[in-house]
Amino acid sequence: MALRKLVAGNWKMNGSLAALSELDGIAAAAAAHAGVDVAICPPATLIAAAHARQPHLGIGAQDCHWNDAGAHTGCVSVAMLAEAGATSVIVGHSERRADNHETDAEVQAKACAAIAGGLTAIVCVGETEAQRDAGDAVAVVDGQLGGSLPRTGTGANLVVAYEPVWAIGTGRTPSTADVAEIHAVIRSRLMALLGLEGSKVRILYGGSVKASNAAELLHVANVDGALVGGASLKAADFVPIIEAAQG
Ligand code: PGA
Repeated sequence: MALRKLVAGNWKMNGSLAALSELDGIAAAAAAHAGVDVAICPPATLIAAAHARQPHLGIGAQDCHWNDAGAHTGCVSVAMLAEAGATSVIVGHSERRADNHETDAEVQAKACAAIAGGLTAIVCVGETEAQRDAGDAVAVVDGQLGGSLPRTGTGANLVVAYEPVWAIGTGRTPSTADVAEIHAVIRSRLMALLGLEGSKVRILYGGSVKASNAAELLHVANVDGALVGGASLKAADFVPIIEAAQG
């Protein structure tokens, strides 16, 4: 069963109020490709303005705290993100796992909080280059899944993104055979943890997705969409990826 594809853009620490004009073209393409779900995850400060500018475009966040409120200086809760207009949140991105030392247990707590608060959790996993070279890619990803995935996930509120760390922002991508191998592992793990519901959870590929490679990557078995960094900042770069997902 082919799942409806999701193309999500991760703006990371990029963007400004002026840059939200890019959303106009992205929203138009999303409306024109009704068979594809589209979301943009801008920095938290831009979520409300992004939602106000394009209320029909999916807007997501890039991180959340697992607590509802309290003494957590600098952090943002799921309820705050939802109030601002977010409907999804990325958790466990490799940049946060590396830069902020986030553990699998913390990623899982964030994903559970996101789901409990009515958002879709986009849980990221992926191996480093050294781990792949050592032949450990499957074991690393499987271990991250076991530690990070919320057991309450469903096809409606959980998405997994496989993002090999060495492919992010480098212009390098795994072979389609390697993508297929890891996505099959992720599907098996989802089914083991969530039963039949695991067959409905979308698995995105992320890491140097762009217009020229999107169609090939999006047609690999168990690739149900893409998580796009650099190529999501400009409508001219992102819209062709939406088109490729429509097929
Ligand atoms: P990239 O980033 O598309 O710029 O490689 C992907 C990501 O980190 O989500």
